[in-house]
Formats: sequence, C-alpha cells, structure tokens
Amino acid sequence: MTTLDGAVVLITGANGGLGREFVAQALARGAAKVYATARAPRQWDDPRIVPLALDVTDRESVRAAAAAATDVTVLVNNAGGTSQASLLDDDLAGARQLFETNFWGQLEVTNAVLPAVKANGGAVVNVLSALSWLALADTYSATKAVFSSATNTQRLALAGDGVQVLGLHLGYTDTPMTAGIDAPDKNDPADVVRAAYDGLEAGQLEVLADETSRQVKAGLAAPISALYPQLG
Ligand SMILES: NC(=O)c1ccc[n+]([C@@H]2O[C@H](COP(=O)([O-])OP(=O)(O)OC[C@H]3O[C@@H](n4cnc5c(N)ncnc54)[C@H](OP(=O)(O)O)[C@@H]3O)[C@@H](O)[C@H]2O)c1
Repeated sequence: MTTLDGAVVLITGANGGLGREFVAQALARGAAKVYATARAPRQWDDPRIVPLALDVTDRESVRAAAAAATDVTVLVNNAGGTSQASLLDDDLAGARQLFETNFWGQLEVTNAVLPAVKANGGAVVNVLSALSWLALADTYSATKAVFSSATNTQRLALAGDGVQVLGLHLGYTDTPMTAGIDAPDKNDPADVVRAAYDGLEAGQLEVLADETSRQVKAGLAAPISALYPQLG
C-alpha cells in the first residue's frame, strides 16, 4: 500500500494531458515534492514542483534525471507517443522508434529510478492502455502489450522489495494525444488519474479506469473472433 501524503513523485511526460493531472492530483493528495519531467520542462508556479529534463529515449537524459532525484518514492511512467508506423511496413524503423519511447524508454526510466524507489519501499505506476489487450492500433497496441507484460515481470520481481507496481489501463481520454480522433465520450483525464491514485493508495496492482478497459479485459476469455468481429 502506498500513500501519496508526503510522497516524492517523479512523473514522465508531465506537460501532457494526463501528465498535468498526475502532477496536480499528487500535490492535492499531499505529495511533498513532484519532479515534473519532460523533454522541454515548463515553469510551474509551485515550489513543490521541480521541473526536470527527461527524454525517455535518451539514456544520458534518463540517468541525469535519476541522479537529480534520488529521493523519489513514487514513479509514474506516463510519457508515451503514437505513430503511423505499422508492424507490416517494409522498413520497421518507425515501429522500432515507437518501441524506443513506449517500451524500452519506460524500462530505462524505471531501472534508473528503481534504487530510490526500492530504498523507500515505494511504487511504480505504468500507464498502459485498453489497447494493450486489443490490437486495433497496430504498433501502438504492440508497444503497450509488451509494456503490460513487462509490468507483470516488474511486479513479480519487485514484490519482495515491497515495491507496489500498478498497471493503469484506459480507453480514449481527452488529451492532445487524441485531439485528432473523433470518438464519443472520451474520458476526462482528471477521472483517469483519480482512479489511478485511488487504486495506488488502496494497494491495487491494476486499475481499469473505464468501461472500455473492463470490457476489453473481460473479452479476452472469449474466442478471438468475438474480440475481433471484423474477422467474421
Ligand atoms: N489519451 C488517451 O486516449 C490514452 C489512452 C490510453 C493510454 N494513454 C497513455 O497515456 C499516457 C499519457 O498520454 P496523454 O494522453 O496524456 O497524451 P499527451 O498529452 O500527448 O502526453 C504524452 C506526453 O508524453 C511525452 N513524451 C512523448 N515522447 C517522450 C519522450 N521520448 N520522452 C519524454 N516524454 C515524452 C510528450 O511530451 P512532449 O510534450 O515533449 O511531446 C507528452 O507530454 C501515454 O503513455 C499514452 O500512451 C493515453
């Protein structure tokens, strides 16, 4: 079980739609300090917020941020991207690049920050997706699927150190990432982050933040054609 009251929280992609909510709601729950990390950190008008440069795909940047934040108790791996790159492209460079951001970069950040989190018996929150379980978004789905698997590996490996590893699954949420997607009833990012932090503080290992995530996970037990009706 993790409390945010008095916690020191490091958030990646803190300038994004969910990232800003992770920052604001950590402070609202009593966090003592928030490292708001981003490729281009912005200024925040709050002395409890420490802006830090962190590009998850740049190992030097990751290491420098981890070295500057040795008091972290809660890590939120929120940064992520999308791409038009397909797993079926002749040239897989674009797909590899998305894996650098959405998978390898996530592991680089976690492994760099882990000594602090372990020392503090803290927690890691991995922002996954309902698309971790549904391959409708090509390379993006694949990156989130493998990150979801790695989340299970981390959870098992770190349980003995008292580190809580929480996987957060969500469907379409109203952030800049989905600005070009015309989907009805996108989640409010504030609701998603509230569900994540409620789960974290309740000691949960997984949070399904919306009905989409709950339905997709429940559908995994059905025949593959039920999950993908377009296959007839
Ligand atoms: N919105 C949805 O519908 C939805 C659904 C499921 C899961 N998610 C996941 O939720 C997380 C947050 O996304 P969001 O919806 O809040 O989108 P967003 O507003 O686009 O935020 C994503 C953030 O990730 C940052 N980022 C991208 N590449 C990075 C890198 N190499 N190093 C550091 N930061 C990087 C971006 O930074 P820059 O400002 O520098 O570009 C941006 O601030 C992502 O992991 C996303 O996959 C979102």
